[in-house]
Amino acid sequence: MSNIVIGISSGIAAFKILDLIRLLKKDGHSLHVMMTEKAQNIVSPKRIEEMTGYPVFINLFEDNFSYEQILKGKKIDHIEIAKKADIFIIAPATANTIARCACGIADDFITTSILATISPVLICPSMNDKMWYHPATQHNLKTLESYGYEIMTPASGSLACGTDGIGRLPDVKVIKKYIESILSRKKLLEGKRVLVTGGGTIEPIDDVRVITNRSSGKMGKALAEMAYRYGADVTFIHSKNTPNPPNRRVNTPISYLYIKQFSFSTSDELKIFILSQQEKSSTVSKR
Ligand SMILES: Cc1cc2nc3c(=O)[nH]c(=O)nc-3n(C[C@H](O)[C@H](O)[C@H](O)COP(=O)(O)O)c2cc1C
Repeated sequence: MSNIVIGISSGIAAFKILDLIRLLKKDGHSLHVMMTEKAQNIVSPKRIEEMTGYPVFINLFEDNFSYEQILKGKKIDHIEIAKKADIFIIAPATANTIARCACGIADDFITTSILATISPVLICPSMNDKMWYHPATQHNLKTLESYGYEIMTPASGSLACGTDGIGRLPDVKVIKKYIESILSRKKLLEGKRVLVTGGGTIEPIDDVRVITNRSSGKMGKALAEMAYRYGADVTFIHSKNTPNPPNRRVNTPISYLYIKQFSFSTSDELKIFILSQQEKSSTVSKR
C-alpha cells in the first residue's frame, strides 16, 4: 500500500476531498494531508485528522517551534512528507496555488513541500471557467507540465458560481483511478536501468562549419520521460542541439524528474558515453 500525500487548497470543491480520502483509505493507503490556510474555511482539518489518523499540516512553523529541536532531530515535517510520498496530489488546485507552484514560490506548507518531492505529482485544478481560460492560468499549467507534473483537466457542468462551463473538480472516483494508474505504472519498469539517446551528432568541418542532421531529440526526450514515469532508472544522453531536455536542473540528485543526463556533440563523444553506460543498462534506445 502507498503513502499518498494530498494538498488541499481553497477551491469550493475542497469538501469533496473527504470522499476521496475515504475511498483511498478503504483500499489501505496511508493518507498524509496538508492544506492552505484558506482551505480551512471550507473543510475542517480536525475531520481529516480523524479520518486519516495523521496530523494535517497547514503552517510551516508550529507555535511551539524550536530550532534546537530541529537541529537535534534532523527532521522537518514538509521535507519528511515530501520524501515519503509515493504520489503527491493537489486537489482541488486553485488558480492561486497553481500560480505559486509554477513560479516556485514556497510560502506555505504545500508549495514548500512540493518543491522537495521527487514523487509523481498530480494536479487537479478546479475553478470558475473564466479563471481556467485566463492566459495566466493556462501558462502556469503549461509550466507545471514542463516540470513533469500531470494535470487532470477539470470536468464541465454547472459551477458553484452559478454559471455552466469547464472548471468542476472531476468525480473523486475518476481522480482515484488516475492515482491508481500512476501508482501501478511506477512498478512496470522498477529495477530496470534504461539508457536513451536523442538528437543528432555534430561533426565540425572547420572552426565554423559543421555536418549534422535534422534529428531534434524530441522522441528520445519523450521516451526518457516515459521510462522514468514507468519506474525505470533512466539515463538520457542528448545532443547539445536538443531543445529543452527533460529537466533544467540536470544531474542534481534532488531534481524533479530524476533523469541522469549527459550531452554530446560529435559521434565519438556519443560512442564513449554509450559504451560507458551500456553495460549498466537493461535497455538501450537510440532515437
Ligand atoms: C467561496 C469561494 C470559493 C472559491 N472557489 C475557488 C475555486 O473553486 N477555485 C479557485 O481557484 N479559487 C477559488 N476561490 C478563490 C481562492 O480561495 C483564492 O484565490 C485564495 O486566495 C486561494 O488561496 P490558496 O490557493 O492558498 O488556497 C474561491 C473563493 C471563495 C471565497
